[in-house]
Order: sequence, then C-alpha cells, then structure tokens
Amino acid sequence: MKKLVLALSLALQAAALAHAEPSPAGSEGVPVKDYPWQALPGETNEALERKGDRKRGERLYALCRSCHMASAGGSPDGGVPRLAGQHRSVLIKQMADIRSGARHNPTMYPFAVVLADPQDLADLAAYLEGLCIQANPRRYDAPDAGQQVAAGRALYDRACRACHGPSGEGSMHKGYPALAGQHHRYLLRQMSEIRDGRRSSAHREMVAIIGSYSDDQLLAVAAYQSSLVMPGKVCAVKAPSGKR
Ligand code: HEC
Ligand code: HEC
Repeated sequence: MKKLVLALSLALQAAALAHAEPSPAGSEGVPVKDYPWQALPGETNEALERKGDRKRGERLYALCRSCHMASAGGSPDGGVPRLAGQHRSVLIKQMADIRSGARHNPTMYPFAVVLADPQDLADLAAYLEGLCIQANPRRYDAPDAGQQVAAGRALYDRACRACHGPSGEGSMHKGYPALAGQHHRYLLRQMSEIRDGRRSSAHREMVAIIGSYSDDQLLAVAAYQSSLVMPGKVCAVKAPSGKR
C-alpha cells in the first residue's frame, strides 16, 4: 500500500509537470463524433471531439506505467490489460467509465480520477492508440489449445465477428474494442463480468449473446480471440521511447 501511495504521488508530480508545459501541435486525425450505440456522458463526448496530443499523452502515461507497463502491453498474468494499439474511442470511453464508476475498477480508480479533464483523456488515448501491439505472448497455450481455438472460432464467427472484425480489429468509429493481442485471461475475466452483469455499460446486444454462454464457451472464445493478429499493428516486444 505504501508503495502504491508513493507511486501515486510521484506520478501526480509528473502529471503536474506535464500540465505546466505548453502543448505542442496536436497529432491526431479525424475526431470521433459519437457512438451510434449508446448515449454517453458529457466528458466522453467532449474527449472524443478533442484533438489528442501524443507527446502530452506520453508524459501523462507516467501515471499508468507501473500497472500497464512501459510498453502498455499490460501485466504478464493478464491482471492488467494491454492498452497499446487500442482505438482511442474505446480508450476514452473506458477511462471515462472508470472515472464515473460506471465500470467498477477500484484498483485503478484513484489514478483515473486525478486526470484533470477531457483533454487528458484525449491525449492519453492518442498516445496509446499509436503504440504497436506486441506479438501476443499471452495467448491461450494449454495442451488443448488447438481444440479450444477451433471451437472458439466457430462461436466468434457466428456471434462476434460482425462487430469485433475478422482479425479482432474492432472499429474506431463505432467504439468496438480491438481484441487481437489481448491477454486471454483478461478477455475471459471481462466476458465473465459481462455475462454476470458486472459491466453494465457494455453493448446490450453483446450482453444478451454472452449472457447465454457456458464457462466452456467463454474459455474457447477467449482462446480464439487471443490468437488473432491485427494486420499492420504488430511489433516485437520492446518499450517505446521515453521509458523511465
Ligand atoms: C494500480 C494499477 C493501475 C493503474 C495505475 C492504472 N490502471 Fe488502467 N487498469 C488497471 C486494471 C487492473 C484494469 C482492468 C480492470 C478489470 O479487469 O476490469 C485497467 C483497465 C484499464 C482500461 C480499460 C482497458 C480495456 O481494454 O477495456 C483502460 C483504458 C485503462 N486501464 C487506462 C489507464 C490509464 C490511461 C492509466 C493512467 C492514467 C491507468 N489505466 C492506470 C490497473 C491500473
Ligand atoms: C453489437 C456489437 C458487438 C457484438 C455482437 C459483440 N461485441 Fe464485444 N464489445 C462490443 C462493445 C461496444 C464493447 C465495449 C463495451 C464497453 O464499452 O464497455 C465490447 C467489449 C468486449 C470485450 C471487452 C474488451 C475489453 O478490452 O475490455 C470483450 C472481451 C468482447 N467484447 C468480446 C465479445 C465476444 C466474445 C462476442 C461474441 C460472443 C462479442 N464481444 C460480441 C460490441 C460487440
């Protein structure tokens, strides 16, 4: 706990510094106008419309590194998700949901609430979206992997592919998360939360589908998702510049 408090105060100093410096020119393209599938709280829409500044986002990321790692690849055991390469629309909504409590995340909550405003969310999202996805070392690799991946693929093609895409690439404009390269344990935990009604801000259509899945089906579909590769976004495992 002491360590956490220390990390938090150091990170706060870093964030304060980041605020003190003038922002260089924005580095992102088309703003996302809206999610077609859900009314969003004001902060989310505001952040989506801001131009994200990657440099500033990289400095703010000092707050997040201890858990999400310098590469933003997440923790080796899947306890903390990969953020690198995720769509900024998704990153912004999840940060805002965690800040508002719509997504229950007591571990990260104290770090999420110290972000100052929608611009911080936009900057962090622009930085993280630009990072490459490391070739997934956390895919499901138990002895029955071949069988699980095949069973998962059949489920995914039927019920998930239309939104999350053939390569698990999701959609920036619709705010559908990229799943490729994500830890299978994280995916499995999220789907259990979605099925059991603990992630109430998720897409209703998906909640209805996953709601009927057995534990075995969730395991299989998580195995398949973690085996997906998003073309053009994958890199070898290494920390981005500006590591500390
Ligand atoms: C104390 C550890 C910790 C810190 C610090 C932390 N996070 Fe997290 N974060 C987590 C955990 C754990 C989860 C996943 C929670 C769950 O399983 O539902 C998460 C989830 C997320 C998600 C959702 C990802 C997804 O795929 O849906 C985003 C986005 C995120 N964090 C961004 C950040 C940013 C940006 C910062 C810095 C401002 C940060 N986090 C700091 C622990 C942390
Ligand atoms: C109608 C579109 C749609 C369908 C169909 C759909 N999803 Fe999703 N999925 C979403 C959206 C939108 C989110 C983000 C929810 C949120 O904002 O919390 C999401 C989130 C997720 C997450 C959490 C990702 C993260 O980083 O935390 C997982 C895992 C997931 N979906 C898996 C699946 C699987 C498996 C299926 C098929 C059984 C499926 N989805 C079907 C739209 C969809």
